[in-house]
Amino acid sequence: MIRCSAPGKVYLFGEHAVVYGEPAIACAIDKRVFTSVELKDDDSVRVTALNKRLYCDNQEFRYVCAAAKMIKELYNINFGADISIESELPSSQGLGSSAAVTVSTLMALSESLGIGLKDYEIAKLGHKVELYVQGTASQADTLVTSIGGMILITGVEMSKINFLNLPIIIGATGITRSTSDLVQKVAILKNRYPKLVGSIISCIGEVTRHGKSKLIEGDITGIGELMDINQGLLESLKISTLELNNLIYGARRAGAFGAKITGAGGGGSMYAIAQGANIDKVASQITLLGGQAIKAHFSDRGISVD
Ligand code: MEV
Repeated sequence: MIRCSAPGKVYLFGEHAVVYGEPAIACAIDKRVFTSVELKDDDSVRVTALNKRLYCDNQEFRYVCAAAKMIKELYNINFGADISIESELPSSQGLGSSAAVTVSTLMALSESLGIGLKDYEIAKLGHKVELYVQGTASQADTLVTSIGGMILITGVEMSKINFLNLPIIIGATGITRSTSDLVQKVAILKNRYPKLVGSIISCIGEVTRHGKSKLIEGDITGIGELMDINQGLLESLKISTLELNNLIYGARRAGAFGAKITGAGGGGSMYAIAQGANIDKVASQITLLGGQAIKAHFSDRGISVD
């Protein structure tokens, strides 16, 4: 049996603005999705996750099944397998769980079948799987989860920047939402007020550029300040919600350096950075306000064979 894992991620700065060519910074976190593969003599793929065991001929576990289908078709190999998934990430909460499950499955199949795909190849193939399942997908999610660390995304260009190991506290609202609907919502607002919304988007790009410098300097106070500015700008794009704002203000009140949405907004998750005793204070405040608090760290680790 082969077991592989891949990390979730947060957007430090720049989500939504990145859709319009502005830079964004995303980073892997130390919460992972684990995929185990046991090859079988038949040609069926069965997936066990969330206390269910299903064949890959229904509408569930679509990323895992699409990854197996892609490997079968691309490498012209017919195989049967029992695939089981365990996750430290809540799904559909803006933390990159679908990209992580996709790439950890691709890696586990590649290792089991002796294909030997490397992290960048897995990232590319993972993006194809996400496109197949979702219709549209950003390349950032599968790249960050494949190679780990902090990634600066500018249009189609992506490069690693100096990794800063910071603790973070995530607050998941439990509210699921569609990324493409939220991207569309911003597009509609931009159509209505092209100059105004265009300026907000440029400002977010400027926040990311400052954020990159602060990350390189390791200036946590500066990073927190810029997270708060980024959040204000995202709020003006109308993608924050009362539930997210409650968690964000709660985290700030509990001593966070800064707090903002991660990802598309409209639900999903926020994250905060804090240090020392304030980490537990922020986590307690998030729990008290009805969020799922997840204490994590930024992580330099991408996919791995465990
Ligand atoms: C969603 O995780 C991030 C967005 O910027 C959309 C995208 O980049 O594809 C909102």
